[in-house]
Amino acid sequence: MSPVLDIQNVSVRRGRKNLLHDVSWTVNEDERWVILGPNGAGKTTLLQIAAARLFPTTGTAKILDEQLGAVDVFELRPLIGFSSNSLTTTVPMQETALNVVVTAAYGVTGRWREEYEQLDERRAFALLNEWGVGTVFDRPFSTLSEGERKRVQIARALMTDPELLLLDEPGAGLDLGGREALVERTSELVTSEEAPTTVLVTHHLEEIPPGFTHVLLLRDGTTVAAGPIEETMTSANLSKTFDTELELIHRDGRFSAFKKPAAAVAASSAGSASSQARG
Ligand SMILES: Nc1ncnc2c1ncn2[C@@H]1O[C@H](COP(=O)(O)OP(=O)(O)O)[C@@H](O)[C@H]1O
Ligand SMILES: [Mg+2]
Repeated sequence: MSPVLDIQNVSVRRGRKNLLHDVSWTVNEDERWVILGPNGAGKTTLLQIAAARLFPTTGTAKILDEQLGAVDVFELRPLIGFSSNSLTTTVPMQETALNVVVTAAYGVTGRWREEYEQLDERRAFALLNEWGVGTVFDRPFSTLSEGERKRVQIARALMTDPELLLLDEPGAGLDLGGREALVERTSELVTSEEAPTTVLVTHHLEEIPPGFTHVLLLRDGTTVAAGPIEETMTSANLSKTFDTELELIHRDGRFSAFKKPAAAVAASSAGSASSQARG
């Protein structure tokens, strides 16, 4: 089976800046990936390529067996569910939550002229319910809370029953209860039989739902490490990625990390120096 995403030696340049530099990344159908890295690492840029919204400056990107640049992106995009905060700025102010979801079926955000099938409306309503926001279906999107908007965005991303689901910081701006509810629901989704191949971007380890299988660590537009989450998510790799001495905590499928106290860092480097000295 060919990969869902096959990105080879991709760079994205804007002026003199490399947003991405020589990134290679392969995602197979049964994998669930987290892209983790600090602000400005290039996570959103990479996700936009995967979403067929952005073309690399150099390198190749194959999405669902189609070569970006050699395929009509408007045929490709309905196969890709993309949830990103950028939606917030493109949705007309008075658009209802239900319409924000329904219009995904037509690859638009405004609902002005198109005729919508009842079937689509029912599917959109069911998705809102699944994500716990059925009761706000007729409220303007602009009046929803941050947590409600995130859920509506994910429902929208799932509307076309995509083969690839891309979630850019779905937990950003949520309070603790909201984050935990979203983590739980996302975990249920990605571990279910009918789950699409999923990529989730975050810079907070606490936002990684149980069930994700792989992680790509990005820093300054380059890959620090990529692979199965158990091998790749380590204190050493995280420290490199975030340029801070971090200690990873992994419990019941959840992750967290804290900066090592200065004393512990000094002790461990003194320890390794003396053990090296002893040879
Ligand atoms: N069009 C652009 N021109 C110049 N720099 C950009 C452009 N878009 C993004 N950047 C910069 O590229 C870097 C990576 O951006 P982004 O992919 O959004 O990072 P992340 O999602 O990891 O925070 C950031 O430093 C950002 O400021
Ligand atoms: Mg981003």
